[in-house]
Amino acid sequence: MAVELRPAGRSDRDYVCMAAAEAFARLGHYEGILGGWFDHAGVTTVLACVEGSRVGFVMWAFVQGPGLAGASPVADVVALVVDPAWRRRGIGRALLRCALRQAGALAPVAFSHRAELSVADDNLAAAALFRSEGFEPRPDADTRYPGGQRCLRLGRPLNAP
Ligand SMILES: CC(C)(COP(=O)(O)OP(=O)(O)OC[C@H]1O[C@@H](n2cnc3c(N)ncnc32)[C@H](O)[C@@H]1OP(=O)(O)O)[C@@H](O)C(=O)NCCC(=O)NCCS
Repeated sequence: MAVELRPAGRSDRDYVCMAAAEAFARLGHYEGILGGWFDHAGVTTVLACVEGSRVGFVMWAFVQGPGLAGASPVADVVALVVDPAWRRRGIGRALLRCALRQAGALAPVAFSHRAELSVADDNLAAAALFRSEGFEPRPDADTRYPGGQRCLRLGRPLNAP
């Protein structure tokens, strides 16, 4: 199975919104939320495709603001989704690594040293992936998704060995 990772374009917006709506339905109105992020110039979205069909995406951005560690911007992995039929084949890990590689390459100009992301506290599959890529919980963070679900904030150095 050959998985192609490519930058998202305008024509991918509907796919990204629908995939997010399905994956995050219990967490809030993510079709609209991700649509807004997709349109933002500072947000990068990468698609995973198999034989030309979209099977997942990752979205990330440098962000700075309340609730985020330290004064420097962090590379925030905003969303990572693989279509249910394509899970457990390494696509999620490949997308995550792609986002971290892209952010790491820009880290010096963004004055960023750290990657962070949020994950629902009962999302064991995603937490296992993130921990296996070096992410650790930030004990100082206590946040919730728009739907009220508690989430963990995980982080790691951006250019980890
Ligand atoms: C989380 C998600 C992106 C993982 O995608 P994936 O393509 O299935 O992940 P991979 O095949 O690359 O798996 C990587 C690791 O994640 C962990 N993992 C993935 N699915 C798992 C599951 N169902 N149970 C336990 N661990 C799991 C494993 O550690 C796995 O490594 P291994 O296969 O060597 O054991 C996918 O399950 C998904 O889209 N979930 C819904 C959206 C979501 O929760 N996103 C994360 C928050 S933004």
